[in-house]
Amino acid sequence: MKVFVFYGKIEKENSTMKFMINALLDELVSQTNEKVVISNLSESDFDIKYCNGCSDCFLKGSCPLVDDMEKIKLGILSSDIILFGSPVYGHAVSGSVKTFFDRITYWTHLFKLSGKFGISLNVSSGNGNEPVKQYMEKIMGNLGLSLVSQISIKSSSYSKEIMLNIAKNEMKKLLITYQNNKYKVSAIQETSFKNFQRLYKGEAGTSFEREYWLSNGMFEVKTLEEYVNSKSIKL
Ligand SMILES: Cc1cc2nc3c(=O)[nH]c(=O)nc-3n(C[C@H](O)[C@H](O)[C@H](O)COP(=O)(O)O)c2cc1C
Repeated sequence: MKVFVFYGKIEKENSTMKFMINALLDELVSQTNEKVVISNLSESDFDIKYCNGCSDCFLKGSCPLVDDMEKIKLGILSSDIILFGSPVYGHAVSGSVKTFFDRITYWTHLFKLSGKFGISLNVSSGNGNEPVKQYMEKIMGNLGLSLVSQISIKSSSYSKEIMLNIAKNEMKKLLITYQNNKYKVSAIQETSFKNFQRLYKGEAGTSFEREYWLSNGMFEVKTLEEYVNSKSIKL
């Protein structure tokens, strides 16, 4: 089982986000006999440049910026479980998390991560969790992830014991879903898939996007769920 973790840049030592990420990963490893390979990107130094707005990603599926993003994208595509986290900064995701999402926004037109399981985590000191949870649900849903778990933490009122308990329960839920391969698609994801399908069947979108949908058999299926089950996804 391959797990990819990203929560942006946090250099603070005693961070609640890092505590929670470690608790989740420790629980995942201890609750399964399967080998777990973890890419915890936020523990390493990485270079992610701001999107410059050229739109090459939508037009050609490639980005002219030279940084670690290509390597990171390959890491995401080769993983089964994707854990995206963000601290709550001004009732929004942090700047480094937003920059990261900007750089993969074009994947939301392709449902690029369909078939993978997602976990979202947001950590505030006490308020503003809900808008961050909702934003991450939207992005992760349009990436095609089956969102198994959405965790909101308030560091001022959650003890370590409460957080460890949440980690235990959420990883239990994830493992049951993963082991039974219960890929669930929400009604919102299906509506979004249908809307894109209708648009790209016409002249909307870029030729790169229409070609991606065509070559992956995305026009031939009725639903996102059917698309995932058809296993025709070309990464
Ligand atoms: C720039 C900035 C903005 C923040 N905005 C909020 C906020 O809107 N609501 C909140 O509850 N906490 C806010 N915080 C606190 C962080 O969410 C919190 O420190 C972080 O998620 C991690 O918790 P920790 O400090 O215990 O490691 C902010 C922190 C910073 C640095």
